[in-house]
Amino acid sequence: MRSIEEEMKGKTAVITGGNTGIGYGCAKVFVEAGMNVVIAARREDKGEKAAEELNALGKGECTFFQCDVSDHTQVKALVEFAVEKYGRLDTMVNNAGYNPLHFDACDMSIESYQQVLATNLMGEFYG
Ligand SMILES: NC(=O)c1ccc[n+]([C@@H]2O[C@H](COP(=O)([O-])OP(=O)(O)OC[C@H]3O[C@@H](n4cnc5c(N)ncnc54)[C@H](OP(=O)(O)O)[C@@H]3O)[C@@H](O)[C@H]2O)c1
Repeated sequence: MRSIEEEMKGKTAVITGGNTGIGYGCAKVFVEAGMNVVIAARREDKGEKAAEELNALGKGECTFFQCDVSDHTQVKALVEFAVEKYGRLDTMVNNAGYNPLHFDACDMSIESYQQVLATNLMGEFYG
C-alpha cells in the first residue's frame, strides 16, 4: 500500500489564504509531502516570505500568486496560473476568509456585510 506522502508527491495544490495561519499550516504539510503548492492572498510581502520559507524545506515547491478571492477574474487567473506552471491541479483549499469585527446586526454597515459575503462565501464558490 502506498503511503500518504507517496500519494501526494508531485501533485499540485492551490491554497487561498496560504500566507498565514491555517492556510500556511496546510501549505507546510503539503510541501513537506513533496507537493507543488501555489499559495494565494492579497499581501505580496507576506506571500513571498511564506513561499521562501516553504521552499527552504527542500521538499516540494511553493509559489506565491497575488489574488483577491472576492474577484472571480482573479480566482480564474490563479487557477490558470497553477495549471500553466505545474501542468495539473489536484487540490484546491478555499481557505481565505476573515472574521469581521463583532457588531450587532443593526450596527453593521451594508458594505461591511457585503465584503464578508464576497470573501467568505463567493470567494469559496469561485474556487
Ligand atoms: N482560526 C479560527 O479559529 C477559525 C475558526 C473558524 C473559521 N476560520 C476560517 O479559517 C480560515 C483561515 O483562518 P485563519 O485563522 O488562518 O485566518 P488568518 O490567519 O487571518 O488568515 C486569513 C488568510 O486569508 C487571506 N485573505 C483574507 N481575505 C482575502 C481575500 N479577499 N483574498 C485573498 N485572500 C484573503 C489572508 O491574506 P491577505 O490578508 O494577505 O489577503 C490570510 O492569508 C478563514 O476563512 C477563517 O474565517 C478560522
